[in-house]
Amino acid sequence: MCDNFIQAGLKVLIKRNDGRTHYAVISNVGESTRFVAVEWFEDGDAKGKEVDFDTLFELNPHLKCGKNLEELKGERARVKTARGDGTRILRVSVPSRSRSAVEKRSYALQFEATAPNRTSSSISLDKISINRPDPKDGNGDVGDLDTALSKQRKSNASGVADAVKVPGSTITKPKKKSSTVKEVEKLQKNRELRRQKQAEKKEEKEALLTIHSGNPNWQFQEMIKDYQGKLEFKPLTETDEVTENHQITVCVRKRPLNRKEKLSKEVDVISVPRKNLVVVHEPKNKVDLTKYLENQQFRFDYTFDEMCNNRTVYNFSAKPLVETIFEGGMATCFAYGQTGSGKTHTMSGASHGREKGIYAMVAVDVFKYLRYPEHENKGLMVSASYYEIYGGKVYDLLAKKARLRVLEDGKQQVQVVGLTEKIVKSVEEVLFLIECGNNARTSGRTTANSSSSRSHAIFQITLRQGNSQRIYGRIHLIDLAGNERGADRLSASRITRLEGAEINKSLLALKECIRALGRKGSHLPFRGSTLTLVLRDSFIGDKTKMCMIAMISPGMSSCEHSINTLRYADRVKELAPSNDALIEVPEDKGKMGWNTSKNESDTEEEDVSIASRAPDVAGHQDTPSCRKSNKMQYLEQEMVSAFQLWTTLCPKFDERESQLLLEAHKLEYDPEHFSSELDRILSERQKFLSALRDRVTAFRLQMDSEEELNKENYKRCRL
Ligand SMILES: Nc1ncnc2c1ncn2[C@@H]1O[C@H](COP(=O)(O)OP(=O)(O)OP(=O)(O)O)[C@@H](O)[C@H]1O
Ligand SMILES: [Mg+2]
Repeated sequence: MCDNFIQAGLKVLIKRNDGRTHYAVISNVGESTRFVAVEWFEDGDAKGKEVDFDTLFELNPHLKCGKNLEELKGERARVKTARGDGTRILRVSVPSRSRSAVEKRSYALQFEATAPNRTSSSISLDKISINRPDPKDGNGDVGDLDTALSKQRKSNASGVADAVKVPGSTITKPKKKSSTVKEVEKLQKNRELRRQKQAEKKEEKEALLTIHSGNPNWQFQEMIKDYQGKLEFKPLTETDEVTENHQITVCVRKRPLNRKEKLSKEVDVISVPRKNLVVVHEPKNKVDLTKYLENQQFRFDYTFDEMCNNRTVYNFSAKPLVETIFEGGMATCFAYGQTGSGKTHTMSGASHGREKGIYAMVAVDVFKYLRYPEHENKGLMVSASYYEIYGGKVYDLLAKKARLRVLEDGKQQVQVVGLTEKIVKSVEEVLFLIECGNNARTSGRTTANSSSSRSHAIFQITLRQGNSQRIYGRIHLIDLAGNERGADRLSASRITRLEGAEINKSLLALKECIRALGRKGSHLPFRGSTLTLVLRDSFIGDKTKMCMIAMISPGMSSCEHSINTLRYADRVKELAPSNDALIEVPEDKGKMGWNTSKNESDTEEEDVSIASRAPDVAGHQDTPSCRKSNKMQYLEQEMVSAFQLWTTLCPKFDERESQLLLEAHKLEYDPEHFSSELDRILSERQKFLSALRDRVTAFRLQMDSEEELNKENYKRCRL
């Protein structure tokens, strides 16, 4: 037996399962099992398999022939080239590096290999095809295994196809590998993938940091981008048609980030994916400081994104109201929102006439409708008034801000006494009045916004029929004061705090009145504030229409106020949740803001209970804020009247006192008479002064309680 010749380290020819034959090195010899373990390199990996003796001898007959390796060492295998049959005999010598692995024994092996193409220089070990140059080329015909191996590696690395054409057949890639080899390959592959991913992530992070340099909230920005990537955006456009006709319409308008916000790298936290949906991406931090977003969805009649212009907003909000007044109805359009959110921009237009506002567009349409044949013969006259409510008091913006009184007669008819109502015959005249009024508007400084408007401005267009003075139709266009009260509550100035209190109170009353209109027939708490008092007629009747445009600032720093605005608007008109209108974003289930955005405590029952706590003087049930509002104004008037009386009486007292003093210097001076007279004058003076003092004290106490109430209202306005 020549089994003795099979030793570890010997290079032998083996056959792979797919039919390929190539060289490998024996790593282990199983004498008893008559199997050898062989190993070889392939694609840069060590591979191995087991071969039984018989197969080994079949492929390596020289082992069987009895020649030992030493004998073989000196022999040079001649390579017979048989061009005709494509077969050549190669003699391969093992280089010294390989020889060390085989106990420094060299050997020569003879094998047959197919030569597919003589001119090809690639050698594929896998396919046991060693393409060699023609012996005639002068390179000799002796092959070397290491050269072949190195050539093979090069060939693999350069991606040269390793399929070899054998005459009449094609040998394909191996299909089966040992499990160990597969495992090693898999581990290596995974490691490389991991490293690649880590490197990519690092690069991405570095790129993001460069892009967002100076933006501490860039992670939120990225999260919002991710979220938006999952949304399909179909916003409202100018060409869309107004298809719905509601008595109360609630819209939301998002303004674009302004220059200042862009410079301070504010993150835009508002998305308007659809014509009736707005999503607030509220940035939050977990206890472990992990950042996450709470995405709240709100549905309204219409939502306008930052690309919408005033024209689009007008078409969906105030335009349908113009039709209402020509049908003999009362219409009201409010702009509600935080200071700086775009109320004045929407109502009055952009500064320097860059974009018309709703006031101007209404004026244009009013005169256009007036010329329609169906209205032409009605003999309608157009008049306009412009006034503001500041601190609960009414000021005429078209009469040098004269203070006006609001009176309610026995029939509950409310009138702003002495309000200027100018008859207008053209759009230009209306625009002129608007400009005059805007110039006169009350603006004050708040700690929140230096140019914040702190009054409700009401521009009113009235249609009267002929000379009858009967109101045919009226539209109120209202630019409400900023609803952002938080900062004012902390203001050091009592006046600023009271202004804020008044604004909060009126916004709360407004919400309740609109809701009462929506509920039809329920009690209307219009005495809740001066604003709702002057608008009383707009909350009653079937021909009444209302539109609220809630403005929101897109910045992250305004997020809390934007949510408050949206909640307020949501409460004004509770649109039933409709799942088809909401968006289900993958990985965002359970955060559908419709329900979560509602505050459980602000329920219908609570509103009703507030409206019915106690009847007011006239037997009407009004909110506590309403009663207090009236009382405060009453006490203020009492105080002022008492002081006015004192200022008229005071000179009379002075005169009497002066005369009494003269008496004291006369010869016939009677101390008895003098003292009794002085006592009388002083007690009278004291009586008046203490009455005046009482009124001042009562008013000041009322102011304190008003402030307390404001805190309560503030919480309610946030709901
Ligand atoms: N849709 C918009 N497009 C472009 N700029 C806008 C838009 N809305 C508002 N702005 C700009 O934002 C700034 C603040 O807007 P605006 O004065 O209308 O706010 P406001 O809600 O009336 O605030 P305040 O309650 O303090 O009166 C203005 O400079 C205005 O031009
Ligand atoms: Mg304004």
